[in-house]
Amino acid sequence: MKTFYIETFGCQMNAHDSEKVVGTLVEKGYQQVEEIDDAELVLYNTCSIRDKAEQKVFHRLDTFKKAGKGKIFGVLGCVAQQEGERIFERAPHVSLVAGSASYTKLPEMLVQLEAGNRRVTGLSLDTADTFDTPFTSRDNPYRAYITIIEGCDKACAYCVVPFTRGPERSRTSESVLREARSLAELGYTEVQLLGQNVNSYRDPSAAGWDFAKLLDETGKIDGLKRVRFTTSHPRDFGKSIIDAIDQNEALCDHVHLPVQSGSDSVLQRMQRLYTRADYLRRIEWMKKARRNIAITTDIIVGFPGETEAEFNETVRLIDEVEYDAMFIFKYSKRPNTPALLLEDHIPEEEKTRRFTLLQEQQRSIQMRRHARFVGKREHVHVEGYNRATNQWVGRTSQNKTLNFTDARLPAPDGTKTLTGHYLDVLVTRVGANSLAGESVLQ
Ligand code: SAH
Ligand code: SF4
Ligand code: F3S
Repeated sequence: MKTFYIETFGCQMNAHDSEKVVGTLVEKGYQQVEEIDDAELVLYNTCSIRDKAEQKVFHRLDTFKKAGKGKIFGVLGCVAQQEGERIFERAPHVSLVAGSASYTKLPEMLVQLEAGNRRVTGLSLDTADTFDTPFTSRDNPYRAYITIIEGCDKACAYCVVPFTRGPERSRTSESVLREARSLAELGYTEVQLLGQNVNSYRDPSAAGWDFAKLLDETGKIDGLKRVRFTTSHPRDFGKSIIDAIDQNEALCDHVHLPVQSGSDSVLQRMQRLYTRADYLRRIEWMKKARRNIAITTDIIVGFPGETEAEFNETVRLIDEVEYDAMFIFKYSKRPNTPALLLEDHIPEEEKTRRFTLLQEQQRSIQMRRHARFVGKREHVHVEGYNRATNQWVGRTSQNKTLNFTDARLPAPDGTKTLTGHYLDVLVTRVGANSLAGESVLQ
């Protein structure tokens, strides 16, 4: 039996793509192994969102060159799509390069390599047949990902995704619901709808559903207790999404809505297609919702030309919104993107200063926001047990980690476990990044 090892970098879309790759290879008779040394085929599913992520891939490829005698090395994902055949020059031991739209062709490509071809590539962005991958090996036992839209039609000045994942293509609502129903039948209770801009979804079939309708219908499937979605683009974020969350308890009360900057002039230079006021209107809808919706975001500091005054607009926006969590990134120059041509790039030390400032600001906001959970009961989906802390790890609908103890089952015992169950936990302590408590005995 042929063996393979796979390592994955990047976002949830990449994680899910790897599940599809594993499923496809296993179906063809390959066996997945956990150690590179045991593998004949070594695959890297790569991310190119920031320069660091890309460098990491080449370092990793270098490290494993030594172990490479007789092995086939393949590069998949966003760096593969972006760099194409140049990867063979930068890392000559690589013999397979394939972008995310070509995974169903992997078995054919491997046959070509076995037949003696030195190098094969799959870089077409034509994704007509990528959605309905018949074989997916899901490695997350408590949450199943479902791709509903691929690619991106926006053109943010800093971003590689439109080049690495191609134009936007939505999957039919029928196909999405079929997959969600079959996951529920398999016993999954939580699914996450995925897309680079998940809410730009437009059903290509006659039904013509928008994202809110698809979300609501997914939440009505018998057996599904939690439906999440990521990532939402503010421009396409309609109030109907909030209305759906308000009316359908299975939809999680969490929205990730990347703002990138609080300054109108920066947003314009970024080509984000919305203003600060447009964005805040959406935040207002969420704050007025019946349910208590957690809001998280992404911020880029040090975009070319970002002045101190523009940066302070972001600081003020963060204070105004009071996010539940935030990913902060230092602007990173990416190939082919229009922002490369902008003047006045911000020095690294200044980016670091702004990054640290926001990090500290957000930390105290999170401490404050979390304090209100003390003494409250939260319903969690149990994801596992942490042997280092002797606590169960749960997740709330708002996507917060809640570590807890359970008097009936202090630790997994033989076949007895709480993982996969839902239960109520009384929150007794909080930190900036998580909550802690004791399960409520019923
Ligand atoms: N489609 C999503 C974002 C996907 S990329 C959206 O538009 O909201 C995830 C995050 O990476 C982005 O939100 C952005 O904050 C960050 N990012 C993307 N390109 C970047 C770059 N060149 N430098 C730094 N951060 C970047
Ligand atoms: Fe990148 Fe912008 Fe598309 Fe998001 S919307 S993936 S940031 S180009
Ligand atoms: Fe990275 Fe590609 Fe995702 S660049 S963030 S893996 S879409």
